[in-house]
Amino acid sequence: MMLRPIILVLLSVGNLLAQNGDKPGETQAVRIPAEKIPPAPVLTPAQAIKTFKVPAGFEVQLVASEPLIQAPVAAQFDADGRLFVLEMRGFMNTPDAAGEDQPNGQIAVLEDTNGDGTMDRRTTFLDGLLMPRTISLFRDGLLVAEPPQLWFCRDTNGDGKADEKVPLFNDYGDRKNPEHTANGLVLAMDNWYYNLYHTWRYRFQGGHWDREPIPNRVQWGMAQDDFGRLFFTSNSDLLRGDLFPSHYAGLRAPTARLSFLNHPVARDQSVWPGRINPGVNRGYQPQTLREDGRLSVFTAACGTTIYRGDQFPEDVRNDAFVCEPSGNLIRRQALHDTGGSVNGTNAYPQTEFLTSTDERFRPVNLLNGPDGGLYIVDFARGIIQHRIYLTSYLRKQAESRGLQAPLDLGRIYRVVHRPSTAKHTPKMSGLSAAELVALLSHPNGWSRDTAQRLLVERGDSSVVPALESLARGSADVRAKLHALWTLEGLGRVSASLVQASLKDPHPQVHRTALRLSEPVLRETADLKPSATRSQVVNALLNGSTEVRVQAALSLGTLKNHKEVQTVMTEMHETTGSEWVKQALALGLGLMDPQTNTVNVAQLSGLTADEKKRFAAGKEIYMMACAACHQPHGLGQEGLAPPLSGSEWVAGSPDRLVRVVLHGLRGPIKVKGQTYQLEMPTMGILEDEQISQVLTYIRHEWGHTFSPVDAAAVKKIRDQHGTREEAWTETELLRFK
Ligand code: HEC
Repeated sequence: MMLRPIILVLLSVGNLLAQNGDKPGETQAVRIPAEKIPPAPVLTPAQAIKTFKVPAGFEVQLVASEPLIQAPVAAQFDADGRLFVLEMRGFMNTPDAAGEDQPNGQIAVLEDTNGDGTMDRRTTFLDGLLMPRTISLFRDGLLVAEPPQLWFCRDTNGDGKADEKVPLFNDYGDRKNPEHTANGLVLAMDNWYYNLYHTWRYRFQGGHWDREPIPNRVQWGMAQDDFGRLFFTSNSDLLRGDLFPSHYAGLRAPTARLSFLNHPVARDQSVWPGRINPGVNRGYQPQTLREDGRLSVFTAACGTTIYRGDQFPEDVRNDAFVCEPSGNLIRRQALHDTGGSVNGTNAYPQTEFLTSTDERFRPVNLLNGPDGGLYIVDFARGIIQHRIYLTSYLRKQAESRGLQAPLDLGRIYRVVHRPSTAKHTPKMSGLSAAELVALLSHPNGWSRDTAQRLLVERGDSSVVPALESLARGSADVRAKLHALWTLEGLGRVSASLVQASLKDPHPQVHRTALRLSEPVLRETADLKPSATRSQVVNALLNGSTEVRVQAALSLGTLKNHKEVQTVMTEMHETTGSEWVKQALALGLGLMDPQTNTVNVAQLSGLTADEKKRFAAGKEIYMMACAACHQPHGLGQEGLAPPLSGSEWVAGSPDRLVRVVLHGLRGPIKVKGQTYQLEMPTMGILEDEQISQVLTYIRHEWGHTFSPVDAAAVKKIRDQHGTREEAWTETELLRFK
């Protein structure tokens, strides 16, 4: 058949001519007639505010606009109320993304010098940045993400301009795809900076920057709630959350599916714009727009924050706010917390918290302000879809309304609830440590967070007693949490405070105390049962579900403690709670790498003694075998064949004992593939250890083959006396 290659050639030529975002074979019908689409004139900030619709009682105010700033994508208030604004000026300067390789990104510092609530002075803190994405405050400067670089930049002479730029890490994301690369640097209550599209969290401790693995989360916009739980957003999924800290999985099973991590907080993705939205990338697909032309479901959800201020009415606090720049709107997602699980619903059914008819209103980030206001970062660009995804359809839409220009707009707005009392610019950097401790009880989350950050950064331990008494005695749970984490940041959490906090009736304080107990548990691991350890085990046995999950996660960090392992293993078998079971499986290392799920059934056929053998075998495996066969048992090209799913592992245990005792020389066939390598002898392991590791590989990865005992190993070792050469496949197959 000659026809086929010709058709293929035609198709690929067609592709070359089309926009990057076009899908082969898809016709891009215009679903909304041109005469129905309103023009998109450039509005002044005052005109733009008139296009905003917010619920009764709320009001939108202008904080800053061009020419003071342009193309803002992120912002942060420093301790004195100065607003650092990150400008990504290089994004989509033309529909073909011309100039994206130009280092024209800047960071502005905005000040309100006359106290009227509007920013009136700009200092360019830093310029010459290539597509910068994220900023975060640290000490007297800023962490700046300019993939692949993560910098620490500061102004050492007080002129407001950064004159020191220290490289910290050079693998913070990449430049390939601006829609999908590292961002975040969200300083969470636990004193770590968390990220999206990046598998590390960062922390400055012991005089240097440290990092630890975390599971990958996406996409743009992450925030913590009053309890330090992290929420994030990706495009068509408006809200997810890690209901428990994710680093436990980052260390052990980064891609595991655990019900309490990456939890879908929003099930309904419907969205309710205030205008028709023909200018969205897949606007030609019937499911993208409603009959009336409005966007039907979220497509560019981003910039999430949790409202933690004290200015909005009580019922709004701790709700999530999410931007949808394609639909020119902001969602308020009311959050409901039951027993540690969080679910969210649109606070305004069939409409939104803020809608606009201005097609250039592009909210891309939100933040809590020192005054309790909710701040909106408006990118104010007509084209917000990157070249890599831009369809011919959207390009035409944009060009027909002149949306590709201008490029020098940019706005920051503030939403307040009336009556909004006069706000004063905080001057927190000059406060004494004792004054900062008092602010840990402030009703505004921004003030508490900032006070904690300053206290931890200063490292002034004179306030330890004041923090202790706040942690023990405050009537406000939030203040207790901040006091506990500030002490943690100072490295001054005492065992007695942990023990006292483990008795706290509030589950969030209890959970925090469990996390803080981990170093205490580790210090006493080899000693007689410590008071803390029995408290934590008791929490695992008798706590509420959320407390038990945290207890399981914390105990899971305790290595090799036999009694604890036994309790965890038994509980893993018997608990009826899926969450607790999964947390225990994570701690016990029972994740199935192939299905990415927790393996809950494989140990059920084993006696208590065999389960212990399995647990001990895992440790040996990690030390003696995992370097070649890999922790996931899938082997590694050129190094070792897989054990997971291997017919050798499933087959005669006597052969396995021989392989470990004397080694193995290829060629050998495993799962249909021939390997010509060599496995060295592992005969240095004791009989008992060999029985343990073999029991482990025969019950890990979903295997359910009989365990191996030490007596069987001894018999085979004795039989071969001083044999030194490795076995071959033919030799092994002679043994039954
Ligand atoms: C230095 C790398 C290395 C280490 C360490 C190692 N192996 Fe192997 N293993 C191999 C190689 C290579 C083969 C295949 C030999 C060949 O290709 O000739 C193999 C084969 C096997 C096989 C049979 C084939 C299969 O995939 O099922 C088993 C079972 C096995 N190893 C178990 C273990 C156990 C258990 C340990 C730890 C006690 C261990 N290995 C440690 C490299 C290693």
